Amino acid sequence: MATQVHRGSVLHFPTASSAPEKHYEYFSDGVLVVESGIITHLGDAKAFFAAPHNQALQAQGKVTTHSGLLIPGLIDSHVHFPQVEVIASYGTQLLDWLNTYTFPAEAQFAKQAYADAQAEFFIDQLFAHGTTTASVYATVHPQSVDAFFSAAERVNARMICGKVMMDRHCPNNLSDTPESGYRDSKALIERWHNQGRALYAITPRFAPTSSPEQLALAGKLANEHPDTFIQTHISENRSEIAWVSELFPDSQDYLAVYEQYDLVRDRALFGHGIHLSEREFDALAAKGAAIAFCPSSNLFLGSGLFPYHQAKQRGIGVSIASDVGGGTSLSLFSNQADAYKILQMQGVSLNPFESLYLCTQGAALSMGLEHKIGNLNPGTEADFIELDLNAFPMLAQRTARCNTLAEQLFALITLGDERVIERTYVHGKSVYQKEMKLCGHNSTNGLRSLSNGFM
Ligand code: GUN
Ligand code: ZN
Repeated sequence: MATQVHRGSVLHFPTASSAPEKHYEYFSDGVLVVESGIITHLGDAKAFFAAPHNQALQAQGKVTTHSGLLIPGLIDSHVHFPQVEVIASYGTQLLDWLNTYTFPAEAQFAKQAYADAQAEFFIDQLFAHGTTTASVYATVHPQSVDAFFSAAERVNARMICGKVMMDRHCPNNLSDTPESGYRDSKALIERWHNQGRALYAITPRFAPTSSPEQLALAGKLANEHPDTFIQTHISENRSEIAWVSELFPDSQDYLAVYEQYDLVRDRALFGHGIHLSEREFDALAAKGAAIAFCPSSNLFLGSGLFPYHQAKQRGIGVSIASDVGGGTSLSLFSNQADAYKILQMQGVSLNPFESLYLCTQGAALSMGLEHKIGNLNPGTEADFIELDLNAFPMLAQRTARCNTLAEQLFALITLGDERVIERTYVHGKSVYQKEMKLCGHNSTNGLRSLSNGFM
């Protein structure tokens, strides 16, 4: 069996915790042993190499020494792969932003070749940003899901994805029907769910773009396939919420629409949840559903400040997500920096250990995947990254002044972005190294002629 030993400083959260700053595991000189893509040992390096049979591994060239910090691969619990190209689009809030930028971009994914190329680009970019698992919205086109899972399968990455179900209030070329949405999603579940590391998410976009008939069929599908994920949006924007109450006048609130159609359960990931009522938070907690907190998107689209403490108090699973293209960076470090600022606006300072937990073990727990990803416990899949705490001069200078791991981590979160990702490993294999792409696919985008600006 091919054994690989990674030596360096190591940080992770081995268990579920409401106080991750007390329950992290850190080795200043640690070893992570990987066999056939699975972590088989994590511990102190000196103790490990004291054993004679382990000493031999060094001479056999099986030890890689890392100068950076090893942590689990990051988990982005809410991101739209067809929206990468509309990131940083000016001047709108949610509903106008969808119509102006997002729907036209998603329409291009009707073409298989386009979807294939963007899927490859997106997965490469995830790895370059330190993300090894994501819960991904494709488009309404089933072939966009095939494109995504095929690209993920080539690098053996654990990914969650689903075809957007959307049968109203959207352009005709992006609309399915209740029946076709159900049929296509079911075929995709049968083709991809639990194939290798792929996991399927039933994906009604959000209540306004699905008819009651479509939501009913989405719920039927969820009941027929109880181990699939569900992903959708909720309570992101005030105009969206007002629209939902017009469209569903008999529902007491936004979550009640999803509850009515059996779409609130464990492995259901709700994006945003900024303006939820006490009742809605209580119901999410009671049903074991989770929230994807999307800091950069919430700021960029002017959506609001997620009341993290409301979710935490109730024990709701929360993770930090990019929500690109509403979000402004695929980096979960940039998004953590925005999360900190959002909580500061509410009088709370997010502890840096807790922040990192929300992108690793906390995210995995909220998905029920902690036995596979999100930590470095023996028996889990070997998805991990190396971080460079001296990646650029401003960070290096700040890191040099730090006296504690907490301070170092906070500087990394506040100043960091994709530049801090030195190396990314998926299922034990190196898939990205800074300034050297190991599984690269070339992007062909050049400059296009420019029309009038917006300002
Ligand atoms: N609500 C419905 N669709 C979307 C989307 O694509 N992005 C965001 N941020 N919110 C949504
Ligand atoms: Zn979203």
